[in-house]
Amino acid sequence: MAIDSLIQRKVMGRFATGVTVVTTGGSMGMHGLTANAVTSLSLDPPLLLVAVDKRSQTLEFLKANRCFAVNILRHDQEEVSQRFARPGPKDFLGLDLTTDATEAPIIAGCLAYADCRLYDVLPGGDHEIFVGEVVGGAVYDGGDPLLYFAGGYRRLAD
Ligand SMILES: Cc1cc2nc3c(=O)[nH]c(=O)nc-3n(C[C@H](O)[C@H](O)[C@H](O)COP(=O)(O)O)c2cc1C
Repeated sequence: MAIDSLIQRKVMGRFATGVTVVTTGGSMGMHGLTANAVTSLSLDPPLLLVAVDKRSQTLEFLKANRCFAVNILRHDQEEVSQRFARPGPKDFLGLDLTTDATEAPIIAGCLAYADCRLYDVLPGGDHEIFVGEVVGGAVYDGGDPLLYFAGGYRRLAD
């Protein structure tokens, strides 16, 4: 029998992660969501994946725009994380945005970003797995990551 989903949430909540905002832009317009189900998948070819809840409004934007950027947040970007963790149209106002190889917005002040073209969409239960081919990216100097652990935001101790 499958494990209680609350137990699974609690167990996986002990797996400390960084926090990203996955953005997309293109013919359908800009959208995005806060995500920590993000993993590097392959180096040759260069692939990463993001698991997106089927109820997420970002899903259709990702499929239509066929690109996304993974913005890895800095410790001082908790407000940005909260902003993109609310469902519905996203407020990009006040954010300094650029683009790289695709039309996906890159959020200034993040620790690093990976710019991806949509490579595949795979089934994953109540989520869909968006596999991106990494076509751009950069690491910016300075700053600690924003972390997520046991249901709350954290910072590196030192
Ligand atoms: C720290 C954190 C991590 C999250 N990780 C994910 C994730 O990996 N995948 C996902 O689908 N939702 C994740 N969420 C929830 C979405 O950000 C949230 O459901 C958002 O409202 C979706 O917006 P949308 O419906 O406009 O796409 C996360 C939320 C937080 C606060």
